[in-house]
Amino acid sequence: MSLSSKKARVVVLISGSGSNLQALIDGVTSKELPIDLVAVISNRPGVLGLERAAKANIPTEVLDHKTFAHRESFDHALMEKIDSYNPDLIVLAGFMRILTSEFTQHYQGRMLNIHPSLLPKYQGLHTHQRAIDAGETHHGVTVHFVTAELDGGPAIVQASVPVLDGDDATTLAKRVQRQEHVIYPLAVKWFAEGDLRMIDGKSMLKGEPLSSSGFQIWSDEP
Ligand code: GRF
Repeated sequence: MSLSSKKARVVVLISGSGSNLQALIDGVTSKELPIDLVAVISNRPGVLGLERAAKANIPTEVLDHKTFAHRESFDHALMEKIDSYNPDLIVLAGFMRILTSEFTQHYQGRMLNIHPSLLPKYQGLHTHQRAIDAGETHHGVTVHFVTAELDGGPAIVQASVPVLDGDDATTLAKRVQRQEHVIYPLAVKWFAEGDLRMIDGKSMLKGEPLSSSGFQIWSDEP
């Protein structure tokens, strides 16, 4: 299906502050992003991201994972909710849940995630501290398609920032987040315009396979 004739319908899943969601909202407001943000769904009630969505008049839903006995039943209910919006793309923006393979398979090729490391380095949590502890000179963030492998799907775009003397996890996370807010809207725009697809397990941009680390962006911004 070509999305070029109509705006891509996007559902965003969050668990927290929603600064990446805000970057998408800002992209829509400035008309740079040709998407309809049709719903924001949080697994945690009362988070700032829900307020950001409501302010932008985007329908919000809360599906509290704590009210479900099993991961499978939560994922099922979440799929039903998501599918009721008939989305073209699902964007995980700080959605802190491990997903069942049934869920990831259902949205294969149409679900993106952002992970704060230069994948394949530092999958999982506490990436900023781990990069500092390992003495890395550079750290960063990756947008990737979601597959059954946690933080392991094909990379789309990666932004690298320097690790500076005296950095702690908080200062480094801030530098990385500025790049998150650049590369996530970029990847979503590529998808919405029909330029980005996952084919045979590979990220393809304008019909060409991307490298295993995705499109590279380097930032020397302190
Ligand atoms: C970001 O750092 C993202 O890389 C990670 O979770 C955080 C979400 O932040 N997956 P926000 O909720 O978008 O502010």
